[in-house]
Amino acid sequence: MAKTPIRQSIEFIGRNGIGEVSRLGLGHKDVIPLWFGESDLVTPDFIRNAAKQALDEGQTFYTFSAGHPRLRQAIVDWTKRHYGLALDIDRVTVPGAAMLAVITALQCTVETGDEVIVISPVWPNIFFAVQAVGGKPVFVRLERAHGGGDWSLNFDALARAVTPRTKAIFCASPGNPTGWVASAEEQKKLLAFARAHGLAILADEVYGQLVYDAPNAPSFLSIAEPDDNVFVINSFSKAWAMTGWRIGWLVGPKRLARPLAQLSTLNNTGATTFAQFGAVAALEQGDDFVREMVRRCARGREIMDQFVRSQNRVTWSKPEGAFYAFIEVDGMKDSLSFAKALVEKARVGVAPGSAFGPETDAENDRYLRLCFAISPDKLETALGRVGEALKSL
Ligand SMILES: Cc1ncc(COP(=O)(O)O)c(C=O)c1O
Repeated sequence: MAKTPIRQSIEFIGRNGIGEVSRLGLGHKDVIPLWFGESDLVTPDFIRNAAKQALDEGQTFYTFSAGHPRLRQAIVDWTKRHYGLALDIDRVTVPGAAMLAVITALQCTVETGDEVIVISPVWPNIFFAVQAVGGKPVFVRLERAHGGGDWSLNFDALARAVTPRTKAIFCASPGNPTGWVASAEEQKKLLAFARAHGLAILADEVYGQLVYDAPNAPSFLSIAEPDDNVFVINSFSKAWAMTGWRIGWLVGPKRLARPLAQLSTLNNTGATTFAQFGAVAALEQGDDFVREMVRRCARGREIMDQFVRSQNRVTWSKPEGAFYAFIEVDGMKDSLSFAKALVEKARVGVAPGSAFGPETDAENDRYLRLCFAISPDKLETALGRVGEALKSL
């Protein structure tokens, strides 16, 4: 038989454990889904109406592939309002969703065989994306003591991971699944480290507004120079409840404005035109909604905290940001089977810890990820059922 004409890096993209679990329960109304990263809120009406109006006004054609100027300006204005920064509009691209922004930043930095340091545990699509562009993910795991303690980044481990093939460091802060937030000091250290080694930083800040002890998480935009090799990825998905819209943005180095716009053309010829008008409304009128979303997630986080305290097998590091509980379950050795059993026995969908790093990382198998952005009532019901199931699993 003829060999399949497919790039090896594509063949070796690993299996997605979250998908494996969700396939068991998707579409079953009695299963409470905490496996994906989204709230159960429909996008607010002022955003939907802006997109509907754009449709009615005929915004159904190709537009500027780096993003509609109205939206790029709205991103500049929003950044000024929330971070006090004067961003050069040339640095802003709207390629589609944040996932496409990640791919675009990787396409800009990675040659086949190059290594990308990925701070983990991390959302699997990130290291699959590194593989998809022909790169090799090298994992540097955040550290946490078993049974308690906070996540922290070990800079010595980071230094040990660098080889002549290293091109970039991927850092999601706030992180998915850990909720770890890099402090401004840690970001400065990371930037100095990247500059010293000639590496790019891919800073994923899609949960930047979803933090609990500050108005927003520290941003690399506040410390990087316009021509540093820093790519800041952001999204409308999480804070504005727009996961299905597939829209986000990328702020890149000023000197790469042209290649980034070209890549945006090649990948998707930019984001959906009428969706961009919804995104403008999100930025211009959405501050109250985002605050509401943070309050809702803070309530979910408290419910999770009470749950963890009520269980003798469960610990966590209370997340500083994002909307996930990455819980450690004492005695659990195979998180995928455990998550599948929870769908069957408790009718609750969770993500297996093993999905958030390479298969060789046995540490992750001690963990499960639960999204707590859903309505408090549903979350309490789900956790009640998980607590019951934990007695016998
Ligand atoms: C860390 C991280 N980056 C990027 C994304 C993707 O966001 P988008 O929906 O805009 O593609 C997610 C979604 O879960 C995420 O958790």
